[in-house]
Amino acid sequence: MQLADNPITKVIFEKLKFKDFNNLSNLIYDQERIAEFQFKFHDFKIDITRQTLDKEIKNDLINLAKKAKIKSKIKKMVSGFKINQSENRSVDHFDLRKKERFETQEWKNLINFTNVILNKRSFKTIVNVGIGGSDLGPLMVNQALESFYKGPKIFYVSNIDPINLIEVFEKCDPETTLFIIASKSFGTLETLENAKIIKNWLAESNVSLNDAMVAVTSSKEKAKKWGFKKSNIFHVSENIGGRYSLWSSVGMSILFGLGEDNYKKFLHGAQTMDEHFVNEEIESNIPIIFALLRIWNRNFLNRNNHCIVPYSNSLSKLPAWAQQLEMESNGKSVDIEGQTLKMPASPLIWGEVGTNAQHSFFQFLHQGLETTPVDILIPRKPIKNKKFSHLMTNHKHLIVNAIAQAEALAIGSDDFTDKNKNFPGNRPSTIISWEENNPFSIGMLISLYENITIASGFLWNINSFDQWGVELGKSIANDISNNDGHEKLSPSAKDFLKECI
Ligand code: F6P
Repeated sequence: MQLADNPITKVIFEKLKFKDFNNLSNLIYDQERIAEFQFKFHDFKIDITRQTLDKEIKNDLINLAKKAKIKSKIKKMVSGFKINQSENRSVDHFDLRKKERFETQEWKNLINFTNVILNKRSFKTIVNVGIGGSDLGPLMVNQALESFYKGPKIFYVSNIDPINLIEVFEKCDPETTLFIIASKSFGTLETLENAKIIKNWLAESNVSLNDAMVAVTSSKEKAKKWGFKKSNIFHVSENIGGRYSLWSSVGMSILFGLGEDNYKKFLHGAQTMDEHFVNEEIESNIPIIFALLRIWNRNFLNRNNHCIVPYSNSLSKLPAWAQQLEMESNGKSVDIEGQTLKMPASPLIWGEVGTNAQHSFFQFLHQGLETTPVDILIPRKPIKNKKFSHLMTNHKHLIVNAIAQAEALAIGSDDFTDKNKNFPGNRPSTIISWEENNPFSIGMLISLYENITIASGFLWNINSFDQWGVELGKSIANDISNNDGHEKLSPSAKDFLKECI
């Protein structure tokens, strides 16, 4: 059932004719709101008191989720049903964070290999080569948990722009660098072209491919054909979507960075959030509540974009990762039965680290005509750093600024004499805070966003696990490179190509 056909959708629209939610600056002073609009789970505190809705609408939204049968859809997914119908696949990334994984051959191979690299071989640098889900997740996590690093220095190469690779070559020695070629499909142009250049670069120093490169892929055969020997190929199941794949061997660089013990804590954090998502009642199920807010803002209040601002420099890559996660998953216009959606799905996801963002686009958030809901993310304590502990006092400014922005967005400030200085307020935000950045909390945070994405997809009744929309551009680029299909190109495209290549 699409959102437009959910009987509660009509009920809410009817109520909206008589309700005015232009009163956040009053609503937030209601003391009772704290009990109703704040949630705690482990060390996570979720504060949605600054969302423009009241208790009645919150309850309606919960009923909407019940009518959409969200809990049975979640159960079906984690029981291994092939809910990714367009690709005839189940959704298996949840299994990768369970303890049972540690008994599998896939896990043993991964651990053996990383131990060999860390203990026996003298690799000083590791380079992950991949793009999209084979890059953004591992890069984001390694940056988030850099203070827990044990292994060699890790770099990431994603773009086909040669500068990306050259900059990394300049920091690496071919004799002591391991390259992880991460491509689920082993068919991605950017990754394979970069891999070719790496192979040649190594050959110039007489280092052979299988001494310095490994492949992470679902397509073993393609990797073998490319030149990898069997023991250098690490498997990713077809049932792990690219943007959900950082938990698989695609996240090998995370394991190198964190070491086995911390990596297991990271998986456990994610699994803890998964259990909450699967078992908790809708009324207090944090990912479902967030998904309902996505729908509330996007579909009932017509707010077509959503901003994510982590007040933690270590999380500066989180907005880019969340952008792929939500927009590739839910940027769809048909439902799971192939019918055109009557109401739009995914909002535009964007963001930047705070406080930097305050000095850039917060002007738009405070005074632009459009209203953008904001997620404000903040670890309540600074990263532990023995060497620089005396310099961590600035962390309090992050806390102060995060809360100040949430208040300013909600309350605003009237200036009747100079409209330039008027702040309308009534701009919604959610504060997500946790004790400190560590493997467990970051695992929970990532799983939270994944599960928000999936729950929203269930409410819209779309398939959040395929991504056919990326194919057309790839195929036109392929045709152009192979001198095919030029007759279909526009005159402007032909002119451009003639001039440039
Ligand atoms: O083009 C989009 C995409 O297919 C993403 O879904 C994926 O994460 C990325 O490309 C990389 O794909 P692969 O891991 O197969 O190289």
